[in-house]
Amino acid sequence: MRDPRRVAILISGRGSNMRALVEKANGYDVALVASNKAEAPGLDWARAQGVQTWALASKGVGREEYDRILSETLSEHDIGTIALAGYMRILSPSFVGQWEGRILNIHPSLLPKYRGLDTHARALEAGDRAGGCSVHIVTEELDAGQVLGQAEVPIEPGDTPSSLAQRVLAAEHELYPKILSEFVRDE
Ligand code: GRF
Repeated sequence: MRDPRRVAILISGRGSNMRALVEKANGYDVALVASNKAEAPGLDWARAQGVQTWALASKGVGREEYDRILSETLSEHDIGTIALAGYMRILSPSFVGQWEGRILNIHPSLLPKYRGLDTHARALEAGDRAGGCSVHIVTEELDAGQVLGQAEVPIEPGDTPSSLAQRVLAAEHELYPKILSEFVRDE
């Protein structure tokens, strides 16, 4: 069994959660930041921090094939835990099976509400009084694995999807490092 404290973070874009996970690392080491977009802005920041990075464009590569290469890379780096942070690609069932129970994700809603996309617009449309975020275990079914922790934020009058997203994002940056620390400690 690999050391759960050796964490890889998977990103596709700006990587603000990845940054929070690196800056607030407590009890785990970010051994690799990997991306399916070579130009993901978060990669530059990680490199500048001296964090090892890996990128391979997924465009045009079959899901199984891509995930096989990704899995090999993670194994080569002795990764024990995978943290998805804005990784915008659904993982293949074989990848999820191979890393079963060792992949975490942060999702911008209070699961089980609003799996998938446009969570903030959907919360506003429903007239919810609160939004929030959830850290959960990744399973084959999208955004459906065991919830490890949640943070709730109020919805204010006049909120738009983007103002709510901003408030939730700040909560994500607190919640994710805390839950990841607890997860690796308890493994
Ligand atoms: C966050 O809202 C996260 O909840 C969702 O994707 C977004 C990623 O943002 N899974 P960032 O790349 O971490 O800034």
